[in-house]
Amino acid sequence: MNLTLKIWRQKDAKSKGKMVSYEVTEISDDMSFLEMMDVLNEQLINKNGDPVAFDHDCREGICGMCSMFINGEAHGPGRGVTTCQLHMRMFKDGDTITIEPFRAKAFPIIKDLVVNRMAFDRIQQSGGYISVNTSGNTQDANAIPISKQAADTAMDAATCIGCGACVATCKNSSAMLFVGAKVSQYALLPQGQVEAGERVLNMVEQMDKEGFGNCTNTGACEIECPKGISLENIARLNREYLKASV
Ligand code: SF4
Ligand code: FES
Repeated sequence: MNLTLKIWRQKDAKSKGKMVSYEVTEISDDMSFLEMMDVLNEQLINKNGDPVAFDHDCREGICGMCSMFINGEAHGPGRGVTTCQLHMRMFKDGDTITIEPFRAKAFPIIKDLVVNRMAFDRIQQSGGYISVNTSGNTQDANAIPISKQAADTAMDAATCIGCGACVATCKNSSAMLFVGAKVSQYALLPQGQVEAGERVLNMVEQMDKEGFGNCTNTGACEIECPKGISLENIARLNREYLKASV
């Protein structure tokens, strides 16, 4: 396939960015979207051009680094996949593809398609963990009975990879789906109960401090989430917050 790519180029956080068009050639249907970007960068480097900066790490849908807004959708046209899992067979020869970074006030652009998602790390640091006594008397986690339903729902919440697609998709740049998933994965398990109140209050406070918007129940985040994190997690977050507040 030969494609036209319209890509957001921005030198650094302070510079003004703009869309720039590139022609990329010899793209196979079997390539992933990131492999197609690698080919573009090789072609740019061979012509002494500046390669496009983009984030990636695992290329297996696990790390959540590959943040790209492709043809107006976070992680592109596929459902339940990250950008690294998106295949070029989703596109046709001659297509024009627009590629932009995840946009949100709380995710400032570092360069081109790379954004700073440290805001998510700070939310995690404010409460997304459990404290375990490792004095030698620690109870084996497998010895605590947990219902199958609670274990499955907690596991579903724990599949959130912190990619930020929910924020980039939301018209309010809300991080409620991400925080809902992180709070839920502990709220459903006995190990998470000890610090439950403190956790939800601290995580919501940090989320607000970072400048994320509020949730207005449009549900776009759930549709674009590559891990299918359910809106039920936002409802659980609200219940946990209310319980901790009173
Ligand atoms: S909730 Fe979904 S879209 Fe949001 S950060 Fe987690 S995996 Fe990504
Ligand atoms: S590069 Fe890790 S999820 Fe895409």
